[in-house]
Amino acid sequence: MERTLAILKPDCLQKKLVGAVLSRIEQAGFSIIAARILHLTPTQAEAFYSVHLGKPFYPGLIEFMTQGPCMVAVLEKDNAISDYRALMGNTDPALAAPGTIRHEYATTIRYNIVHGSDSHENAGREIAFFFSESELCLTSPAAAKK
Ligand code: CMP
Repeated sequence: MERTLAILKPDCLQKKLVGAVLSRIEQAGFSIIAARILHLTPTQAEAFYSVHLGKPFYPGLIEFMTQGPCMVAVLEKDNAISDYRALMGNTDPALAAPGTIRHEYATTIRYNIVHGSDSHENAGREIAFFFSESELCLTSPAAAKK
């Protein structure tokens, strides 16, 4: 089993697409083992996206990610990192394949509805940024069969 961090971004909540996106995630076989809604502060957003500091889109990204609440969630599944990136589609919705979340719901490369970790190392860092180990609920195989 592998874990990845998902963010349903402020545009997702503003458009009331949380249910639709979580449904897509569950239908694709992911278990949601932790979730929280929060309004990122500029300090939090700058720390989370520090890898992009200095890029032309960085100031706009921080402004967008702090403009309203978002949902952070931990997803669990075999190959969760690459499978969730495939489900999201290309960062630029204009290049996202039909059937992906971004193709269906995103409007621009900035307002792109969702985030997902891009590597095992970053998944660990990003999950720990928002959640302690005790907040991650292991999925019970017995419960999943009921
Ligand atoms: P995300 O997966 O959250 O990772 C970094 C984010 O920066 C990305 O999604 C986009 O929202 C944003 N981003 C990346 N490239 C660009 C760009 N060229 N112009 C504007 N925003 C971008």
